[in-house]
Amino acid sequence: MAIDLERIRRDTPGTDHVLHFNNAGAALMPTAVIEAQTGHLALEAREGGYEAANLMSEKIDAVYDSIAALINAGRDEIAVVENATVAWDMAFYALAFRPGDRILTAEVEYAANYIAYLQVAKRTGAVVETIPSEPAGEVSVEALERMVDDRVRLISMTHVPTNGGLVNPAAEIGAVAKRHGITFLLDACQSVGQMPVDVQAIGCDILSATARKYLRGPRGAGFLYIRKGLVEKLEPPMIDMFAAEWVEPGRYELRKDARRFENWENNYAAKIGLGAAVDYARAVGLETSWSRLRVLADALRAGLSDIPGVSVKDIGSVKGGIVTFVKDGLSSDDIKTRLRAERVNVSVSPPSSTLLDTLARDLPPLVRASVHYYNSEDEVDRFLAAVRAL
Ligand SMILES: Cc1ncc(COP(=O)(O)O)c(C=O)c1O
Repeated sequence: MAIDLERIRRDTPGTDHVLHFNNAGAALMPTAVIEAQTGHLALEAREGGYEAANLMSEKIDAVYDSIAALINAGRDEIAVVENATVAWDMAFYALAFRPGDRILTAEVEYAANYIAYLQVAKRTGAVVETIPSEPAGEVSVEALERMVDDRVRLISMTHVPTNGGLVNPAAEIGAVAKRHGITFLLDACQSVGQMPVDVQAIGCDILSATARKYLRGPRGAGFLYIRKGLVEKLEPPMIDMFAAEWVEPGRYELRKDARRFENWENNYAAKIGLGAAVDYARAVGLETSWSRLRVLADALRAGLSDIPGVSVKDIGSVKGGIVTFVKDGLSSDDIKTRLRAERVNVSVSPPSSTLLDTLARDLPPLVRASVHYYNSEDEVDRFLAAVRAL
């Protein structure tokens, strides 16, 4: 489906003010998302916080249906939490490991996840191993297949890393995991909203995502998917009286659904905003988003490669909207600051955010220019001119 760029940019007030290539940090929210949240805050101010939640209970409930439809899951398989890290941690720390259990991950793994593997390895005697990458950069499915044995307890990796355009072959990895009956945890923080993500097609057991990045939702919200059948087997690492009911003085009963990974108090405005963002993304269409943002990202990579002194650092046979580069003679932090002075937003990927990849490729801090479908061709041209002029 062709995109109505004019309408979409009208829906995105931030596009009048900034050239925003920091969608992998936090994307510009559409008006529908902003109004959903500010409307709820106004209702809380007028009616009282608990009363507002009661008045909006159907809408709040519908957020689960929206997320479930987005990733082809059931509503009972979704928990809405503070961010992707909480979603990921709640699930990961619920898994049981014994000495010698193997956790297989990818070279581009995200720092927060890897740190958690190290902590669990230290506590339990499990071991963390990295699956080799293909020469192009993505996880090698063949190498994974060769590494599998009956001590592999978990395959866990990021779908799209924080530091570049790479897309890992999630469905092929899911097929290996399924064939061998191994739990597959997918960090889809940078892929949900960017491209179609279908948990059935991928075959992951657990998936984590955030609202503020490619979904264009608010800060401070994220969600967790846990496959039905697995939910009931997992005891969350922390529980309260929302996750479980105190049924007798010496006993509690956990909720049956994935919301056992939530807790009682939450930011309802953000939750409603997340629902609005998911509905907006689905109305635009995830295929549409994916094909358009790749056109922009490819044009950006090609244009940057033509600028003397600029090197593009993205790897992967399939590349998405995150474009990373360095420019000779300038630090990435300086580039970010100088672009910001011209109201051009990028971020910097520090080496420690993906340490294994950083060491393997000897990467310095990278400028991360991440495009979304609502960006324009004109913005790509203006960005290239700004980088050329640095
Ligand atoms: C690949 C990846 N995973 C997880 C996260 C963490 O997401 P959150 O900040 O919502 O916890 C990020 C954030 O940048 C990320 O890029």
